This record gives sequence, C-alpha cells and structure tokens, in this order.
Amino acid sequence: MTDQTPVCRRLVDRTAVVTGAGSGIGLATARRLASEGARVVCADIDEVAGKAAAAETGGLFVQVDVTDSDQVEALYRTAFETYGSVDIAFNNAGISPPEDDSILTTGLDAWKRVQEVNLTSVYLCCKHALPYMRDQFERTGRGGSIVNTASFVAVLGAATSQISYTASKGGVLAMSRELGVQFAREGIRVNALCPGPVNTPLLKELFAKDPERAARRLVHVPVGRFAEPEEIAAAVAFLASDDSSFVNAAEFLVDGGIAGAYVTPV
Ligand SMILES: NC(=O)c1ccc[n+]([C@@H]2O[C@H](COP(=O)([O-])OP(=O)(O)OC[C@H]3O[C@@H](n4cnc5c(N)ncnc54)[C@H](O)[C@@H]3O)[C@@H](O)[C@H]2O)c1
Repeated sequence: MTDQTPVCRRLVDRTAVVTGAGSGIGLATARRLASEGARVVCADIDEVAGKAAAAETGGLFVQVDVTDSDQVEALYRTAFETYGSVDIAFNNAGISPPEDDSILTTGLDAWKRVQEVNLTSVYLCCKHALPYMRDQFERTGRGGSIVNTASFVAVLGAATSQISYTASKGGVLAMSRELGVQFAREGIRVNALCPGPVNTPLLKELFAKDPERAARRLVHVPVGRFAEPEEIAAAVAFLASDDSSFVNAAEFLVDGGIAGAYVTPV
C-alpha cells in the first residue's frame, strides 16, 4: 500500500490461500489481502521467499508444489485446520520458462512442464478448495471466492509466442468460467484474473538489457507502461471481497486497455 491507498477492511475474518505468495503478484496480493484484514496462508515452493511473505503478513507459510495433488490437498486442509475456514483461494503460482517459445522449437517436456505448473495446478487448487467452500455455504450461507490467474495472452495472440504458456492460460480462463457457472448457486464465485504485463524484477532486467524488446510490447499498451504488482493485487482484493458479489465466471482483464486497443496514443 502507498500512503495514498485508502484503508479498506473488506476481508476481516476471511481466510485467504495465496499460491506463489513468495514473489511478484502473489506477494503483493498477500500483502494487500492481509492489509484488508484477511488471515493469509502463503503457499510457495520456495521456502525462503514463502516464509518471508508469511512473516511479513502475519500469516502462515505452507511449502507446496502446486503440481502435486497430495500437497495441494494438504495445503487447503492446513488452512482450514489452522483458521477454521477457506474463504478465498488465489490460485496464482505459474512459470514462464525460456524453453517455452515458438511451437517450432518448443519440445514436449517444456510443453508438459508449463501445462502442469500453470494449468493442472489450478485444477488441483480448485478441486481441493471447493469442498471447504461448499460445506461452509451449507452451514453458514457464506461460500467463497476463487480467483485464478490467467493472463491477457488468454484473449490475445502474440507473434512473440510462448506456446504452452498461452495455451495453459486459455485453459485457466475456460476452466474458471465453467466452475463459476457450476457452483454459482452454492455461494461460490470463480473468476479468471487476466493481468497485462507486470513490472516484475525479471521483466525489468530483461527489458533493461533489450530496450527494443520492451518497445515492441509497450507500443500496444494504451497507458504506455506496464502494471505494478500492487495494481493487480488491488483487483484481486476486489474479486475476493463482497464488493464483487455479482462478478462471476468473468474474464477479468487488468491490462491497461491492451485487449481493447487497435491504434494506441503516440
Ligand atoms: N508478470 C507478468 O507480467 C504476468 C502477466 C500475466 C500473468 N501473470 C501470471 O501471474 C502469476 C504470477 O506471476 P509473477 O510474475 O508474480 O511470477 P513470479 O515468478 O514473480 O512468482 C511466481 C511464484 O510462484 C512460485 N512457484 C513457481 N512454481 C511453483 C510450484 N510448482 N509450486 C508452488 N509455487 C511455485 C515461485 O516460487 C514464485 O514465488 C503467474 O501465473 C503468471 O503466469 C504474470
């Protein structure tokens, strides 16, 4: 939060599980959800980063590989046993390795790895979060909010391809829509968050080395810059909270207008 961010307390008494909480969008979101009063379970494969996120947000660290069904099941069970509810699931961990590139050069191993971490993980996280939310709805009338991180590349093609990444995010988008429809009458909303490019340390480093690469992308962004992780986190907090009570099965773009643009301002 900056000094200008209004103090919002929309998530008091809610438990939020955030995967990939150790870095980037996940870390910014763990901070934002905690600042709004949520009890945050910081899940990450990276023990050092995940522990630091939990310490900072006053939450709980659970080390998890989101591609492993047993570990994901244990993650949601731990969240429930520790805090008594699972109200928010931000299924966000993902990778974008350099071996995933044009279809002409991307091998099957790279393809499969990205599908596992980006798409199978979201299937597993939803599968293991939903039973807690359904039970809670039966008992109390309060269900839950699931936010799955897709990407703007789920709705737009790029000539600078990362073929498995794009396909995985398309899968996250379609799966989120379907789950949002299926569980709508059980008090559970499921939305796909589609961020535009975010100013992460990795991206900054890449573009500092290669300004032409940055320029090729920036020309398509109407606002003329990439997002800050906090701007994506603010959208997640909205989707997690009751302020978005009628937003469901949505393709929730937070992309500075990229997906709506033809000619951008000079
Ligand atoms: N950064 C962007 O420009 C951008 C744009 C659109 C969508 N996204 C998506 O947002 C999400 C977060 O991206 P980010 O830029 O914050 O990434 P990041 O690399 O900064 O953070 C990802 C986190 O996920 C963790 N992680 C990776 N594999 C894991 C596994 N198997 N199990 C558990 N944790 C694992 C990492 O340790 C890391 O802490 C991803 O799904 C990404 O595809 C990112």
